[in-house]
Amino acid sequence: MNKTWWKESVVYQIYPRSFCDTNGDGIGDIRGIIRKLDYLKRLGINVIWLSPVYKSPNDDNGYDISDYQAIMDEFGTMSDFDELLLEAHARGLRIVMDLVVNHTSDEHAWFVESRSSRENEKRDYYIWREAKDGKEPNNWGSYFSGSAWEWDKTTQMYYLHFFSKKQPDLNWANPVVREKVFEMMTWWCEKGIDGFRMDVISMISKPEGFPDAPKKEGMLYGDNAITCNGPHVHEYLQEMNREVLSRYDLVTVGECAGVTVEEAKKYANAQGSELNMVFQFEHVGLDAGTVDKWDKTPMSLPALKENLTKWQKELDEVAWNSIFFCNHDQPRVVSRLGDDSAVSAKCIATMLHFMQGTPYIYQGEELGMTNCSFGSIDNFRDIESINAYYELTEAGLRQPEELLSCIEYKSRDNARTPMQWSDEENAGFTTGNPWIMVNPNYTEINAKKQLDDPDSVFCFYKKLITLRRNSKWSDVIVYGRYDLILPEDEKIFAYIRTLEDRKLLILCNFSQEKEKFRLPCELISAQPEILIQNTENVPELREDMEMEAWQAVVYEL
Ligand code: GLC
Ligand code: CA
Repeated sequence: MNKTWWKESVVYQIYPRSFCDTNGDGIGDIRGIIRKLDYLKRLGINVIWLSPVYKSPNDDNGYDISDYQAIMDEFGTMSDFDELLLEAHARGLRIVMDLVVNHTSDEHAWFVESRSSRENEKRDYYIWREAKDGKEPNNWGSYFSGSAWEWDKTTQMYYLHFFSKKQPDLNWANPVVREKVFEMMTWWCEKGIDGFRMDVISMISKPEGFPDAPKKEGMLYGDNAITCNGPHVHEYLQEMNREVLSRYDLVTVGECAGVTVEEAKKYANAQGSELNMVFQFEHVGLDAGTVDKWDKTPMSLPALKENLTKWQKELDEVAWNSIFFCNHDQPRVVSRLGDDSAVSAKCIATMLHFMQGTPYIYQGEELGMTNCSFGSIDNFRDIESINAYYELTEAGLRQPEELLSCIEYKSRDNARTPMQWSDEENAGFTTGNPWIMVNPNYTEINAKKQLDDPDSVFCFYKKLITLRRNSKWSDVIVYGRYDLILPEDEKIFAYIRTLEDRKLLILCNFSQEKEKFRLPCELISAQPEILIQNTENVPELREDMEMEAWQAVVYEL
């Protein structure tokens, strides 16, 4: 397998709005990120992915961009950004930008022109359609509720928006749009940034003919799976690769909703003609309901093992995986797979960080930050959660209390409560009024308390990162082959990594109780070396094994 720096990296995602506020306006800012670079250095990561910091009216917290070459007022200035880049590079940290080019803000100059008249030269930058029988051109729904089409009074046509109506979709079929996007990307590359995380990049090529999508029972609109992996997406990405990506030393990761293993092999092919890797979402969809994600059924461990194993095996040698459970769109994993305890956070981290692929850590995950009890719909800030609540209750499809409890469990806002720095007021995030509520558990869970505690979740992550990046096991952890064992076990997640004659055994007990299981005898070795453990005692390797609640251990056989 080809060795490269981005396969050997560990990425840390920052959601700037909720990271660190330095001027007391309750909103995190770029100077806040600069202030915390030493914290990240101490954690041991080497790549930072910044959620969007561009100019934006914030209908979707920066994922609606009105100027790709300017910084959001609340976050600071371009000179703050330049300083961040300099300071990060001085510490050996690379910066990956969020590239949001499936859509812009409706306040972007391109859209302002495009909507001004049917004849405008930028009309074709976006996707405009005539009404069909006085209604929307088809049954597509927006990911944020309602139709994916918005009627524009001035020019008497509909425009397409897969997300909010303030996020009109760009028309990638127009070569001028592609050229403009590539120019903008080149401008950032020339500035010296180190990569792109590409927002919903699997949606840039729209289905031929804009057909109605199949509609399931209990759905108000067609299933928007139809919007993913369109007919020209690989062609567009190959063009982007030729025009921009291949000219710089970058790491690229495509956010690919709806991606299958077969598609991922194209997006992230080892020949390097498109992207380095993709985010796939099958594993975080395993606990969705039959109609939408607002469901509280716990994830089945055998199903999770089967799914992650499929990705590990299928992409081995032919593409590359990104490995993650948390980001700004997902609830906190320790509340989802674990029981909010520190030991369960460490167990989940062990399971993930010994897999093949580039790991992504989302701010606060390294502290074991949990979901938050928001209490009332008024405490949410996320457009997806709020819109879903009103649409589904008003249509009589869901009961308010029941839906609210599902939203509390799955809302993206769980990831967006402020970073818990200390036990001071507002978790040390701001001296002002935070834009979203602080999780009240900050007095218990915070960075200050964990930094010097060798048993903390923070120090555990630090160790996992060191093992992967800088230890005698690094090659096995980064490049080794993955093999699942005990596939049927309901509680134990166990696998092996192999590189030439070296073998690591990863054992994790995903249960609040002691578990007994049988280990295949060829794995039992007399004096295995232990790489990491999350409990004081380590079980002896034998045929009849017993592990404590949430216990995780890694052995070199
Ligand atoms: C991606 C982002 C999400 C955003 C959406 C629209 O899924 O991760 O936060 O709302 O795209 O840009
Ligand atoms: Ca601020």
